[in-house]
Amino acid sequence: GAVAGGLMMLAGTQAFAVTIGFSQVGDEGDWRPAFSKDMQEEAKKEGIDLKFADAQGKQEEQLRAVRAFIAQQVDAIVIAPVVVTGWDQVLKEAKRAHIPVFLADRDVDVTDKSLYVTRISADFNLEGRLAGAWLAQASKGNCKIVELQGTTGSAPAIERHKGFETIIKEFPGMEIVKSQSGDFTTEGGKKVMEAFIKSTDNLKGICASFAHNDNMQLGAIQAMKEAGLNPGKDLLMVSVDYVPAMKKALAAGEANASVELRSAIGKYIYPVVLNYLKDKKPLPKWVVIPSDLHTAATPGS
Ligand code: AHR
Repeated sequence: GAVAGGLMMLAGTQAFAVTIGFSQVGDEGDWRPAFSKDMQEEAKKEGIDLKFADAQGKQEEQLRAVRAFIAQQVDAIVIAPVVVTGWDQVLKEAKRAHIPVFLADRDVDVTDKSLYVTRISADFNLEGRLAGAWLAQASKGNCKIVELQGTTGSAPAIERHKGFETIIKEFPGMEIVKSQSGDFTTEGGKKVMEAFIKSTDNLKGICASFAHNDNMQLGAIQAMKEAGLNPGKDLLMVSVDYVPAMKKALAAGEANASVELRSAIGKYIYPVVLNYLKDKKPLPKWVVIPSDLHTAATPGS
């Protein structure tokens, strides 16, 4: 990489500055910008020259950014992929250029796993299972559910749905009756819940809203309030991320549970990348970051 900025690291006798290209999804919701900020702050602490590219939710932008990082001969590339498909070609190009690729947060679906070093992220499937298990207990296994899905084709939407289904299948009284994507945004969640309210005669017979992220749930809460309904009481509200606005909603009784997705994960990601650049030791394909579920009674630290 270019010897510009960054900490001078010693690799054998040669001193070099580490340059990392990071292709981020965008800035949807409250969680994603918190993650971006953490990646920038932690890079500074580690003395990394971070090239940050915001794809504004578009995979084409990510492909362009990754190709630009390859052209700049960065030392490593970190990608938080918008969707799981469509990565083989560009990852092959990075491999040919001998630039190691690390996945952060979201996953890719590639047959040749040697195209990336490792993925550092939470277990989205477990998040879905935690949400499902909490709801099974809270509803005594009897619940018609509306689901607000994340971005179609993204790892968290696919895995949270799968994990949640795994659990509710165990309970004959539990069923997802409506499911639609709100694209991980507050506005998207609000629109989807407005449509659900209309198509179910004010959520008649519905017992819960499972949202793949807090922002969609916060939008759903707004939609319910505007329709004169009581989120957290008329419906059990369970979602993922545990962002500050959701903590408030939990404390106010307008939501009931949220699975924490840590946003301060630069401290997990950079050491993995830096160690790999030093010793090139193969790593397990997944470095898992823990998840836990919170309610108003168990807010955690
Ligand atoms: O990939 C993780 C998901 O992406 C978060 O749960 C969501 O808020 C974000 O947009």
